[in-house]
Amino acid sequence: MSILIKGGTVLSSTGSVRADVVVEGERILAVTAPDGWAGQADTVIDATGKYVLPGGIDGHTHMEMPFGGTASVDTFETGTIAAAHGGTTTVVDFAVQAKGSSLLSTLDKWHEKADGNCAIDYGFHMIVSDVNDGTLKEMDACIDAGVNTFKMFMAYPGVFYSTDGEILRAMQRARGNGGTIMMHAENGIAIDELVAQALSEGRTEPVQHALTRPPELEGEATHRAIQLAKVTGAPLYIVHLSAMQALAEVAAARDTGQNVFAETCPQYLFLSIEDLAKPEFEGAKFVASPPLRDKEHQPKLWQGLRTNDLSVVSTDHCPFCFVEQKELGRGDFSKIPNGMPGVEHRMDLIYQGVVGGELSLSRWVEVTSTTPARMFGLYPRKGVIAPGSDADILVYDPEATQVLSAETHHMNVDYSAYEGMRLKGRVDTVLSRGRVVVDGSGFHGGRGHGRFLSRELNQYLN
Ligand code: URP
Ligand code: ZN
Ligand code: ZN
Ligand code: ZN
Repeated sequence: MSILIKGGTVLSSTGSVRADVVVEGERILAVTAPDGWAGQADTVIDATGKYVLPGGIDGHTHMEMPFGGTASVDTFETGTIAAAHGGTTTVVDFAVQAKGSSLLSTLDKWHEKADGNCAIDYGFHMIVSDVNDGTLKEMDACIDAGVNTFKMFMAYPGVFYSTDGEILRAMQRARGNGGTIMMHAENGIAIDELVAQALSEGRTEPVQHALTRPPELEGEATHRAIQLAKVTGAPLYIVHLSAMQALAEVAAARDTGQNVFAETCPQYLFLSIEDLAKPEFEGAKFVASPPLRDKEHQPKLWQGLRTNDLSVVSTDHCPFCFVEQKELGRGDFSKIPNGMPGVEHRMDLIYQGVVGGELSLSRWVEVTSTTPARMFGLYPRKGVIAPGSDADILVYDPEATQVLSAETHHMNVDYSAYEGMRLKGRVDTVLSRGRVVVDGSGFHGGRGHGRFLSRELNQYLN
């Protein structure tokens, strides 16, 4: 099966070129079709006037994740189908170590959930919530099994939280075995105190979620994580960075040459505490941690994306339905399941940064695909349109427009955080390993097409 993608502008993290892309089987055969090749293609996709770029890589999703007394509602099937509709062809999801269980049994459990069910390729990170000698040893085995990124939490005491000493030990292990520690950097001990005070004073509505998790406590935890990484010599990746205080810490560390990386998410670039303050419990739709911030943080985050102090945009897709799930926290904001849907809209939303002059086309590709590929050990198999790479390709129409809505999205959740938002640009065609999974006539992929990706070590460091 061969496909010719003809007449488009092929984008990479370094520039763009007018070229025809030839796909043979699951891989890219050539960029610029060999002479006389045009007639041989089984299928021709007309990309005239469109961009042809590597499929998106979302390095932070939570499908069917047990959390907050319930579970996120996208399964590996529905979540990866939604991702494909939005031009994302790889997700890296989080396996979650429960306290008292081993990392390898956790990994088995997540393989059971995902294997045979994904519509696009997928990998795993490991959430480490129980640091002990056995866990530390098992980190090495996880790396051998293609999972070399370990998320830890300075937030959520009693759930995923690790002490500074536990984080230090895990970082020492990562220093020795080539793994990368990913950090949820919020000071959970201080936050829990603020939450208890708010509730005791009768402040129970959703906006209190943000008011009890001030940006200073993200900045403080980010600083502390960076110091622990420095002392241990381990690389550090800050997940879902939302606040200018945290960004300043990352930028300062990077300026000294420390291996500190960070991602942000579309919700922090486009939504704000005003959404959390919506009446009638509507704000519950926007409860995620770290919380949505004041709008003044947004230009700083866009700037961070330009300067590479923020290297990646992931979604932190963790959908809970408004009816029944978010409802758990009516009358007590601390019981609202933390997380927001978004896996379907990352490519489109970050493209708005191109439309608005915040990012170049190349940078759009870099932060949504090429850098995640390198950071998570998938390059050049993913993250680039080049001969030999997997044919994970997004044909994007920069002139089309769309309105985001729960009525039309494919995520298995009953609301859109971006309801009614008008966007320029739209996904035209999506290939996953050489198969057209989305085009103008609908969805042609399916459960089981996606394969597990055993990942290499962070390619910025190894
Ligand atoms: O609120 C969030 N972000 N939920 C998902 C879990 C996490 O901390 O990433
Ligand atoms: Zn987190
Ligand atoms: Zn800098
Ligand atoms: Zn997350």
